Amino acid sequence: MTTVAAGRAGGVSTTMVTRAAERRDVGAVGGLLVELFTQAALGRPDLFRLPQADDPGERAALARYVTERLDAAAEKLIVAEAAGVVLGFVHVLVEQVPDGPSPPYRRAVMEGWILHIAVGAQHRRRGVGRALDAAARAWARTQGASALGLQAWSYNREALGFFVRLGYEVRSARLFGAC
Ligand SMILES: CC(C)(COP(=O)(O)OP(=O)(O)OC[C@H]1O[C@@H](n2cnc3c(N)ncnc32)[C@H](O)[C@@H]1OP(=O)(O)O)[C@@H](O)C(=O)NCCC(=O)NCCS
Repeated sequence: MTTVAAGRAGGVSTTMVTRAAERRDVGAVGGLLVELFTQAALGRPDLFRLPQADDPGERAALARYVTERLDAAAEKLIVAEAAGVVLGFVHVLVEQVPDGPSPPYRRAVMEGWILHIAVGAQHRRRGVGRALDAAARAWARTQGASALGLQAWSYNREALGFFVRLGYEVRSARLFGAC
């Protein structure tokens, strides 16, 4: 567990920590994924459908997905918490690059990859995302990674601004055309 910052909210002292997610966090992380993918569906309705948070089958599938992440090798779910409330989470993995047959020119390295990062809408712009990113980088480093990357959708100006502010730079772009 890493204590990140102390502050005051509603007159009450709070300390934010980042820590590995546990089973008790599955509902909170699922809720943040619903927020994240609602935003994705609004940004790219051709690629993402709106979550149906009230659908029992979908809720169970989401809980299963998050629970499986807790035990997955080479993956880590980290939450940021204050006063017992989960404020946000990051889902990160490490992988060997290149991960398949390739010409002999790409240097072999371990890289970390942020699959998801989300802070609850009411907790943004208070350093939670920065703390989650720092925790993801620290974990990836312990796994031998030399860099941490991510894919941000081009509609997501907020995330792009955030990652640029944190020192990320564009290494490559993925382009798509209809076929
Ligand atoms: C992106 C996100 C995780 C940022 O979390 P956050 O807790 O608001 O970020 P922080 O408060 O830690 O901000 C860290 C730095 O980034 C900057 N920043 C945050 N959002 C920004 C934005 N929209 N544009 C420009 N800069 C931004 C902050 O000003 C801060 O800089 P500073 O520390 O120098 O003042 C949050 O907005 C979010 O959950 N968005 C929805 C989910 C999402 O899009 N995830 C990314 C998918 S790729």
